[in-house]
Amino acid sequence: MLCSLLTLLRRGLSLVLEYNEQHPDAPMEGTHLTRFVQRWCVHACVWGLGGAMPWKGRESIAAQMLQHPQLSSLVAGSGGGGLTGGVPSAVDLRVRVEDGEWEPWSLGVPTKELEARQVTGSDAVIPTTDTLRHEEAIRACLAAHKPLVLCGPPGSGKTMTLTAVLSNMPELVLVPLNFSSTTTPDLLLKTFAQYCEVVKSPRGLVMQPLPALGEGKWLVVFCDEVNLAAEDKYGTVKVVSFLRQLAEQQGFYRCGKSAGGSGGASSSGGGGGGLNQWISLRRVQIVGACNPPTDAGRVAMSPRFLRHAPLVLVDYPPPSSLAQIYGAFVRATMKVHGGDLLPYVGPVTDAMIDFYGRNQQQFTTDAAPQYVYSPRELSRWVRALFEALAPLDAPPSPDELCCLWAHEGLRLFHDRLMDPHEKAWCNATINAVAERHFPGLSSTDVSGVVLARPLLYSTWLGPTTGECNGTVCGGTWGRACKRFTKKNWTATWSCLTKFWTTCCALIPCCGTPWATCCW
Ligand SMILES: Nc1ncnc2c1ncn2[C@@H]1O[C@H](COP(=O)(O)OP(=O)(O)O)[C@@H](O)[C@H]1O
Ligand SMILES: [Mg+2]
Repeated sequence: MLCSLLTLLRRGLSLVLEYNEQHPDAPMEGTHLTRFVQRWCVHACVWGLGGAMPWKGRESIAAQMLQHPQLSSLVAGSGGGGLTGGVPSAVDLRVRVEDGEWEPWSLGVPTKELEARQVTGSDAVIPTTDTLRHEEAIRACLAAHKPLVLCGPPGSGKTMTLTAVLSNMPELVLVPLNFSSTTTPDLLLKTFAQYCEVVKSPRGLVMQPLPALGEGKWLVVFCDEVNLAAEDKYGTVKVVSFLRQLAEQQGFYRCGKSAGGSGGASSSGGGGGGLNQWISLRRVQIVGACNPPTDAGRVAMSPRFLRHAPLVLVDYPPPSSLAQIYGAFVRATMKVHGGDLLPYVGPVTDAMIDFYGRNQQQFTTDAAPQYVYSPRELSRWVRALFEALAPLDAPPSPDELCCLWAHEGLRLFHDRLMDPHEKAWCNATINAVAERHFPGLSSTDVSGVVLARPLLYSTWLGPTTGECNGTVCGGTWGRACKRFTKKNWTATWSCLTKFWTTCCALIPCCGTPWATCCW
C-alpha cells in the first residue's frame, strides 16, 4: 500500500515538473500549486491505499480524507455544499494539471464510434469512466517502472485495460506471457533470452532489451494469469519467488553450466560455463494480472512479492458502463443495414444488459463452475448478432431481429445450464426481457407467438445464418446422417481399426491382438 502511495505521489511530482518544463514562463506555483498538491494527495491516497479495494472502499477513503481540517475546504461551500460537478465522491473526480482544479471523470470520456468491422475484432476498447480511472492508476505505476499486479474476476477487463495502456506508451515494448499451473522461472529466462542481450558494464554483467527493439526502450513482461502457477511440495510458487527476486534484487544468477542454453540469455558479453554469474536487469519491468485467489485453480500470491507490486482491483463494469460499451458495439452492428436498424440500438443494448444482469444474479459459481457471467458474454452475443445480420440482403423485421437476439442469447446463457428448472427460468426470463424492451413486435404474446419455441437457426441450409423450420432442418440432418451411415460408416470403421492396429504394433503392450487387449 505504501509502495503504491509513494508511486502515486512521485507521479504527482513528475506531473508538476513536466508542467513546469512545458510552461517555463508561468510555472506551477502559489495557489495553483497548493490546489494541485491538496487534490493530488487525496487522489494518491484513494488509489494508493484503496487501489486493491472495491469502489465502496475507495469512496470511503476519499470521504475520510475530506474530513481532515486542511482538506475540508475542498468540499465546495463547506457545511452542506458538495464536490465539483455535483458528483457523490472525490473518486469520481480527476485532478486537472492546468489549474489544479477537480473535474468529473465523466467529462473526459470520449465518445467512440466503432466501424462495423471492429465488432468482431478483440482490440476495440470503449472508454468509460472506469477504464479511464484504471488506466490513470496503471499509467502511474508503469511510468515509475514499478512492478504492478491487476486483480479481478474473470472477464472484468484486466488484460484488455493493461494492453490498451501499454499500447499507448510507445516507450514500452510489451511481451505478453500466459502463465499456467506448470509455469516455472524457465519461461521468464527464455523470454529474456529472446528479447534481451547481456553486456559487460562497470557494474558487471547487465541484461537489457535488444537495441533492435528501439533505443532506450523498456521491456514490459506481462505475466497474465500469474497466480495459476502451482506450488511445489514446500508450498513455494517458484516463478513468483523468481519475480520477487527480480523486483527486489533487480537481477538473478545465471547458472554457469547452462549459460547459452535456456538459462542464459543470448550473451554478447557474458562468459561461458563455470561459476554462476550475477546478471543485473536494466530497463526490464514486470507486470501481472490475476484472478482472486478464491477462484478455482488459483494460488494465493506470496505477500513477499506483493509488497513490491502495487495491486489494482479491476471489477466488473457497472450497468451504466456496460450500456456505454455495448451501446457502441450494437450501434456498429446495426449500421450494417444503413439507418434501418438504428432505432433498435437502445432496445437491443438494454435488453442484452438486462438479461445478462438477471442471469448474473440468479446463477453463481457455487452451483457450477461454468456459471461465470462477465462482459465477455455480451461481447460474444453482439459478435454473433453481427455475423448473422451482416450477410443479410435486407434488414430483418422487428420479430426476426427479436428472434435472432433471443436465439443467440439462449445459446450463450441457456446452453450452459444443467438443471431443467434453471433452463425453464432462463427461457421465461428471455421472453420477459424481450417483452419489456423490444418495440414494434407483431404480437403482445411474446412467448407464445414471437418467440414461439423451438427457435432454430442454422447455416446448414443456406450460405447465411437463417431461421429454419424444425422439420426441414431435422429432415436435412437426418438424411445427411443416413447418407453418412450408408456410404461412409464401413470405410470409417475400417480406417479406425487399421489405425488402432498400427498403434498397437508400434507400442507393443502385451502382445495380444488389439481387439482383445484394448476393447
Ligand atoms: N471498455 C470496454 N471496451 C470494450 N470491451 C470491453 C470493455 N470492458 C469489457 N469489455 C469486454 O470484456 C472482455 C474482458 O476480457 P479480458 O480483458 O480478457 O478480461 P480479464 O483479463 O479480466 O479476464 C473484453 O474482451 C471485452 O470483450
Ligand atoms: Mg486476462
